[in-house]
Amino acid sequence: MFDAKEFISEKVEWIRREVGGEKAIVAVSGGVDSSVTAVLAFKALKSKLTVVFLDDGLMREGEPEAVTKIFKDMGIEIEIYDVKKNFFQAMKNLTDPEEKRKAFRQAFYNSLANIARELGVKILLQGTIAADVVETVRGVKSQHNVLEQIGINPLEKFGLKIIEPVKELYKPEVRKVAKELNLPDSIINRKPFPGPGLSIRVIGEVTPEKVELVRKATRIVEEESKNLPSFQVFAVLLNDKATGITGEGTRAYGNIIVIRAVDSKDAMTAEPTGIPWELLFKMRNRIVSEIPGVSRVLYDITSKPPATIEFE
Ligand code: XMP
Repeated sequence: MFDAKEFISEKVEWIRREVGGEKAIVAVSGGVDSSVTAVLAFKALKSKLTVVFLDDGLMREGEPEAVTKIFKDMGIEIEIYDVKKNFFQAMKNLTDPEEKRKAFRQAFYNSLANIARELGVKILLQGTIAADVVETVRGVKSQHNVLEQIGINPLEKFGLKIIEPVKELYKPEVRKVAKELNLPDSIINRKPFPGPGLSIRVIGEVTPEKVELVRKATRIVEEESKNLPSFQVFAVLLNDKATGITGEGTRAYGNIIVIRAVDSKDAMTAEPTGIPWELLFKMRNRIVSEIPGVSRVLYDITSKPPATIEFE
């Protein structure tokens, strides 16, 4: 039986030993994995730790502000770094999902390494969990935070020693640790959100305009599904267009948004959530009326396998 209390005291000691009196940095995203890592590291290192939030331009609406507030309420200050340009530049002209992930990973570690250099820090803590490693090793998708398994030595390439305190845990155990650490429910119950953020929910090339479009659709879908017991609910912007007709009767060639909702325990397999029609219609009405240029809304009914949860 997993004992969260024991895990915490052991890991706090372990982090102290691993870091050995040096300064360290940790980046939070608002997800439970990186939040647990940051709080464990803060317990171990206090003022020797800098907690940063990389504003990569690929987050959901209001996310940097919300995450900063949650940590402030726990007595932990977060520094937000605006690195949007680096990420859009790194992904320019890329359309292949794995290429996009690699470019994201490169921009992620380059940005962190630059910040670490500025701060004179050589140790990075990150919230890699067991599922990230399993999916990457299996070759399903290269999670942005799993470096050694794909042959990148972070110390050599980025000058950073990486410490991963929750690497052996799966999501349910991470949540137990989060509860024991008194993290707020908004973090413990937060639905999984991929590291590369909205970039893998814009199919094909990523531009600020496309990300803005899928960000609006994401907000609508999330607002309308607050009470839906579903593992993940989100919107995807396809790379195709479809013919539509405006209220004035003119032809319009518009964007296609897909709503994806899945039930799953551990993200390894998934079934589509049976969203009631009324709720789907409500989402559709809001998407087509609130987002200019969307002419079609689809609902994805595939399970994993053969599909994956994300489109990319
Ligand atoms: P798939 O699409 O492989 O997703 O069925 C399984 C779970 O992982 C999330 N996901 C990612 N998370 N970086 C992440 O941190 C990624 O590149 C990535 N790709 C997928 C996905 O949201 C789901 O919860």
